[in-house]
Amino acid sequence: MRRAIYPGSFDPVTNGHLDIIERGCKLFDEIIISILVNPDKRPFFSIEERRDMLDNVLKTIEQRNCLLRVDDFEGLLVHYALAQEAHAIVRGIRAISDYEYELQMALMNRRLEPSIETVFMMPAETYSYVSSRLVKEVFQLGGELKGLVPPLVEERMKQKVKES
Ligand code: PNS
Repeated sequence: MRRAIYPGSFDPVTNGHLDIIERGCKLFDEIIISILVNPDKRPFFSIEERRDMLDNVLKTIEQRNCLLRVDDFEGLLVHYALAQEAHAIVRGIRAISDYEYELQMALMNRRLEPSIETVFMMPAETYSYVSSRLVKEVFQLGGELKGLVPPLVEERMKQKVKES
């Protein structure tokens, strides 16, 4: 049973995240998509809203025989990964610019907990420029999100703005 953690902010989940999860399903028996609870950030969506969107959109992807679970965590990622008895941490790398920070994190995590490997995965080129940060910016400035996030996420973003 190979279990991986796919950690992130997922504020919101993008098609790039889903592409990485689909690819991860070829390698792992179980992937726990774990949302970081970060009290220092003011997120667009609450943890509960992000969990709910992930639960919904994960149903739309090719899972093969991989079990997908959504969770959230606080504190050090490696402590959480150990508690979940995970073997690996999955991170997506879109471009060289991601690599430096990701390498730093992977090496720090390895120093903290040598038993857990970090696996870097590349999304499809179509998603190489997609990030949650840019998605929010484009949305807030009235741009088109089709193809960047699942339709449900776009709907929830519109709903959120209406409510505020
Ligand atoms: O989607 P993000 O914001 O790029 O994800 C970053 C994340 C959650 C992977 C990273 O911030 C993290 O692991 N935070 C938990 C705290 C921690 O373990 N810090 C030391 C990492 S070297």
